Parts: sequence; C-alpha cells; structure tokens
Amino acid sequence: MTENEKTARLPGLYEDAPAERRRRVAAALGIDVAELEAALAGGGLDVETADGVVENVLGVHALPFAVATNFLVDGVDRLVPMAVEEPSVVAAASVGAKMIRAGGGFSVQADPPITTAQVELHSVADRAAARRAIEGAHAEFHAAADDRLARLVARGGGLREVEVRSGPDIPDAHLVVHLHVDCRDAMGANVVNGLAEALGPRLAELAGARLGICIVTNLADRRLVRVKAHVPSLALVPGEDAAHAARVRDAIVRASRFAEADVHRAVTHNKGVMNGVDPVVVATGNDWRAVEAGAHAWAARSGAYRPLCTWRSEDGGLLGELTMPLAVGTVGGIGRVHRLARLAIALCGADSSMTLAGVAASAGMACNLSSLRVLATVGIQEGHMALHARSIASAAGAVGDEVARVAAAIHRAGEVTLRAAKAALEELRK
Ligand code: MEV
Repeated sequence: MTENEKTARLPGLYEDAPAERRRRVAAALGIDVAELEAALAGGGLDVETADGVVENVLGVHALPFAVATNFLVDGVDRLVPMAVEEPSVVAAASVGAKMIRAGGGFSVQADPPITTAQVELHSVADRAAARRAIEGAHAEFHAAADDRLARLVARGGGLREVEVRSGPDIPDAHLVVHLHVDCRDAMGANVVNGLAEALGPRLAELAGARLGICIVTNLADRRLVRVKAHVPSLALVPGEDAAHAARVRDAIVRASRFAEADVHRAVTHNKGVMNGVDPVVVATGNDWRAVEAGAHAWAARSGAYRPLCTWRSEDGGLLGELTMPLAVGTVGGIGRVHRLARLAIALCGADSSMTLAGVAASAGMACNLSSLRVLATVGIQEGHMALHARSIASAAGAVGDEVARVAAAIHRAGEVTLRAAKAALEELRK
C-alpha cells in the first residue's frame, strides 16, 4: 500500500474494476477486503432480515454503492459512501471535493444533535396561565425525562429545553410545547416521540388543555450544520490561465446569485445540493425523507425558497457557504441490521452523528460546486456526456478497461448511443 492509499485521494479509482476498487478501499480503511466484501454481499440486507423491517416484503431493492474521493473535512481525509442511481453524482462529489481540497478542504460546524418533539395542546382556556404553569414545572419535566432517558443521559444526552410556543402562526386556544432533546448519535425520532407521549398528559393537565398530537418535527432547526470552503480560482479549471479561471469563478457566483433571486432556479440548485446529501444519507441507512423535508422547509424559512449553498468571490477565489438541518444518526435505525449501512458509517469514519452530518453536508456542497462549474462552462449535456458514455459502454457489454476505451471512442465521435457503443466494442475486440 502506498502512502496515498491511506488518504481519501485514491487517484484513478474510477478506472479500476470493482474488485480492485474494493481492494484499494479496504487498504485505505485498514480492514480486510473480506470484511468489506461480506458487508457488500446482497447489498447488506438479506430477505429474511428485510422481512423483519417492513411489511409485505418480497425482496430487497438494490442501488449502486460507491465511494466519493478527495474529501478533506476539518483536516481529516474521508472517503464518502454514496448509494445513488444517477450517473455523474459520485464523480461530481469527487471532483467538487478535489477543487475544495485545493483550498484547504471543508470546514464544518455542526450544532449539538438536538431533535425536537412537538406536543400540541388545544382548548387552552388561558394561554398565559398555561404557559406559566408549564414553565414553573420545568424541574419536574427534566426529572421525568432524565428518568425515562437514563441510558441517553449516561451518554451525555437528554432533555435540554421545554419551550412553550404560541404566536401569530399558532391558532387561538392552542399552545405548542417543543421538547428539545440531545439525542447524541441517534437521529432521535423514536426517542423524542416516546418522550412527548410520556410527558404530554401532564403538560395538558398543567395547561388546563386537551392533548393533541405528539410527534417529532422534521424541521430540525436546532440541528443545523454549516460548511464553509474556499476554492482558489485556478483549482476550478486546472491547467487553464488565470483570466479564464476568473471568468469561471465569476460565472459560478452569477449562478449562485441567480438561484438566490429566482425560486425555479433555487429548487434545481438545491436539487444539486441534495445530489450529494441524499446518497450519503441513504448509504448510511438514515431517513432521507426526514432530511429532504427538513432541508426544503429550512430553505423556505424566510417565506421565500432560497438556495442552501451560496458562492461568492473572495481572496481571488470562491467562498462557499452552506447551512442546512441534518438529522442523521450513526446508531439505531436500520443500521442495527443492515451490514452495508454500518460499513458506510465506518467507511467515512463517522464517529458521531455530528461528524456524519458534516460529511453529508460537505458532499452536498461538493456536488453543488461541480454542477455550477459544469453549467457555467461546458453546459450540462457536454458535462454529463463523458460519464453517460461510460454507462452506455457498460450497457453495451464493455468490461474492465474496455469501459473507458469504448466510452472515449463514442464520446469522441459525438455519438453516445448503445448502437455506437456496441460497434466500438466489436471493433476493439477484433
Ligand atoms: C442534476 O442532477 C443536478 C443539476 O440540475 C443541479 C443544478 O442545476 O445546479 C445539474
């Protein structure tokens, strides 16, 4: 193993066959390739186990499982696991991370892992008195929560705040109580749902109210992750001159401002961010519906839908900034029984839910940057065509290094079709 293999760089990984990639990734992780292969077998989940997870199981549903390279997150090299069906996403993440690496990598600041449950109280006779009664009983609620969540408390988590909410968006005679719980390495929906149902009746009693619904909010706005990155202009277009690099930088800033001003563009811009986030969330066995719902609600928090990630010109390069809620866990959930989800968490070295959130958000930023660079330069069709050519080459039956050679031939000829790929493969094998 070369020194390079111990980093997240793994140059040329995309040109290797899957078996060789497994060998290199196992070496980079310092694990036996057999361990990696055991986790990958059957996509990490067999049908008998799946039968215990959801209802009416017929089988398991596979997706490509890949690693994105080049990620340097807070000074640590990380391989990023991605489960995704869209060609070019893994490449976009790796290429974006490479550009960002040139400026020192991603800097992440993640909030403590607070997940919040809502307890709805209705038919409240006197909201001010109800508020006073609940606020006066905080010690009681904290004691009850500590008791109920003793194992979580022992790990440093637990109920952090009981917040009584009313206001213009909450109807008359309603109060909503938010229970903010530090869930440590769990995503925490089950933890907070259980707590809300346990404390709900007493909250209603104190408020002189009827108990409504008790459930987690997926707008995890106390579980934000912020990522910053600086990209030197020349890293945007390696090998090109400074004037061209500055034009590309300015075009990326323009694309960011376009998304900041136009909702139709903002949605697609954020789709590009989620191209990086979701595959990490899926690969690590997390709830991507919760992450998606929270991300878009956060993007629209001002009343207008805004980009999650923005780019500005700074110090001769680009400054990227991304903020979004990201409630993901490294324990609990499907990971209990899903070998590949557990391996994915180990693969990126996520020793906590906060680290995992930072990795997923960094992947979001990397994909966003790659998309904007392609859109601002060659355009999406040309940018994706080289990668699309690889899938077409595989579909035509190319294997090993034939894939790259057939892809190059059909891309060069400007005919990226299955027919052209089959003809190129036939020619190559002659
Ligand atoms: C395609 O999956 C994602 C993009 O549309 C994102 C964007 O437009 O910024 C390329």
